[in-house]
Amino acid sequence: MDFSKKPSRQSTFAYKWEKYKDTDILPMWIADTEFECAPAILDAMTTRVENGLFGYTLPAHATPSVDAIIRWCKKQYDWEIESDWVVWTPGVVPAFNVAIQAYSNPGDGVIVQTPNYPPLLAAPSINQRKKLEVGTLNIDGRMTLDFDALEKYASLPDTRLFIICNPMNPVGSVLTKSELDRVADICERHQVKLCSDEIHCDLILDDLTHLPASSHRQLKDNSITLMAASKTFNIAGLGTSFAIIPNKPLRAAFNKAARGIVPWVNVMGLVATEAAFTQCDDWHQGQLAYLKENRDYLVREINKIPGLKAMTPQATFLLWVDASGLGVENTQKWCEEKGVGPSPGIDFGEPNCFRLNFGCSRDYLEEAIVKLSS
Ligand SMILES: Cc1ncc(COP(=O)(O)O)c(C=O)c1O
Repeated sequence: MDFSKKPSRQSTFAYKWEKYKDTDILPMWIADTEFECAPAILDAMTTRVENGLFGYTLPAHATPSVDAIIRWCKKQYDWEIESDWVVWTPGVVPAFNVAIQAYSNPGDGVIVQTPNYPPLLAAPSINQRKKLEVGTLNIDGRMTLDFDALEKYASLPDTRLFIICNPMNPVGSVLTKSELDRVADICERHQVKLCSDEIHCDLILDDLTHLPASSHRQLKDNSITLMAASKTFNIAGLGTSFAIIPNKPLRAAFNKAARGIVPWVNVMGLVATEAAFTQCDDWHQGQLAYLKENRDYLVREINKIPGLKAMTPQATFLLWVDASGLGVENTQKWCEEKGVGPSPGIDFGEPNCFRLNFGCSRDYLEEAIVKLSS
């Protein structure tokens, strides 16, 4: 468990590194980490490889993997789920696109919050739905939903679905109990279903508890919750995630919309998820401690650079930086000319911002700060 290592990703075609290949630009964009997987995950995968056969595996038959999710939900969120509620999906992105197909019709309104992860912002129009954008407000130094806008859009007669991202990417806020109560109340009163993308929910850096949407009494029958081991355990390339859908008709509608289009998850993803959720508790805690120090260092140093401002995210390994004080036209170009490659704010809906990934060794962060301060 040494998070300060810098394993080479050369020749692995890592998306993050390919973008800036043969340049001096340090890639700090796409949301995977530079941390080697926990040894227990590597061992489980190695054992599976040694078996030597990779034929069809129906995910529902992989009961140890489902049991691992049940264990994790109880341990992490004190949430008792049933095995039937778990629907495997080969990614969270396909899952929220399937949710749109399952719970709305072409032309209906789908609410999304902004700024947000680009594929989530793109999902309504990909599915020929109307995108209704609810902004995020700075209340006492913490970003949260604009509940007035949420109420307004939810009350429109053709609004069917709200896709939320909690913890929020890119701003890193974690919904409080009272905020989730408000979301639940608004969705119930206006008969809007909730699809909650919680892919970052095991990366809580402050002393907070994550509240899964479908564990909320009022949302149990009106929501689906999307999770994965992918971000937390650096296995996103295995394309394995899951939806937790307690309500039977909602589950049936989801499965129907996915049928014939969405493939089964791959067998290595099942194996890795099982190991992550049963054998990596200490590794998980170690990573959180390392990320927390990275976060605090990066926030402190970024705020020393004239023109840049950042609030402390409560979760994720992503820092949202407001670069409007620079007074430059293209913040992404400014960063790249300094030798750092963040995610462009424009993709998330805010051109004056950029997003830095601090899921890496402290050395990389220090290098990035030297470059950005030059
Ligand atoms: C909020 C959010 N949802 C979904 C994803 C991607 O999910 P997947 O790779 O499982 O499709 C990301 C990746 O960055 C993300 O930040």
